[in-house]
Amino acid sequence: MLPTLSLRKVKAEEIDTIVDIDKIFGPDAFPKYMFEDYMEECNENNGFFYVLEVEGVLAGYIIAVHDFDGAYTIESIAIRSEFQKVGYGKFLLETIENLIRREGGDEIKLQVSDKNTSARKLYENFGYQYIGNEQEKFYLDGSAALSMKKEFDAY
Ligand SMILES: CC(C)(COP(=O)(O)OP(=O)(O)OC[C@H]1O[C@@H](n2cnc3c(N)ncnc32)[C@H](O)[C@@H]1OP(=O)(O)O)[C@@H](O)C(=O)NCCC(=O)NCCS
Repeated sequence: MLPTLSLRKVKAEEIDTIVDIDKIFGPDAFPKYMFEDYMEECNENNGFFYVLEVEGVLAGYIIAVHDFDGAYTIESIAIRSEFQKVGYGKFLLETIENLIRREGGDEIKLQVSDKNTSARKLYENFGYQYIGNEQEKFYLDGSAALSMKKEFDAY
């Protein structure tokens, strides 16, 4: 049987769980106050801070902030390791892209570590393009940040 999935806005009382999931990023994990700030910003400004529940377990999250006009930035996406590689990352990204487009968004940017093969593959498959301003030693593990962008035609 297919698992029951729920993708919805994060609740304030779930931020500690998000912090726990974010440990997957090691030293580059966001501190709690950043998630609280993102939640507030998304509530005020058409951004999306969504969580994915699988059979009632918080399995992952995605944050996309609204920069200006139709421009959005994916600030973070993560799936708990035991829920990875079954398509939930794709599901989160696809849903958030659709929500952004429904708000009139036409451009999404993000940054990814050059060493993060799985995330880079995901974005490449979704049509994100490298925009060439690599930032050396951006992450605490010494890896570089690569910037990517995807543009949409108007609906
Ligand atoms: C990146 C991440 C969100 C992907 O989530 P996921 O649920 O495992 O991904 P999916 O199962 O939906 O797979 C989506 C695509 O990602 C790529 N991918 C996922 N795991 C991969 C792996 N181990 N190696 C190579 N590519 C991989 C593939 O392109 C895959 O598509 P395919 O199955 O059609 O080949 C997840 O690995 C994660 O949370 N990583 C740690 C946090 C992180 O790095 N976030 C990104 C920050 S920029």
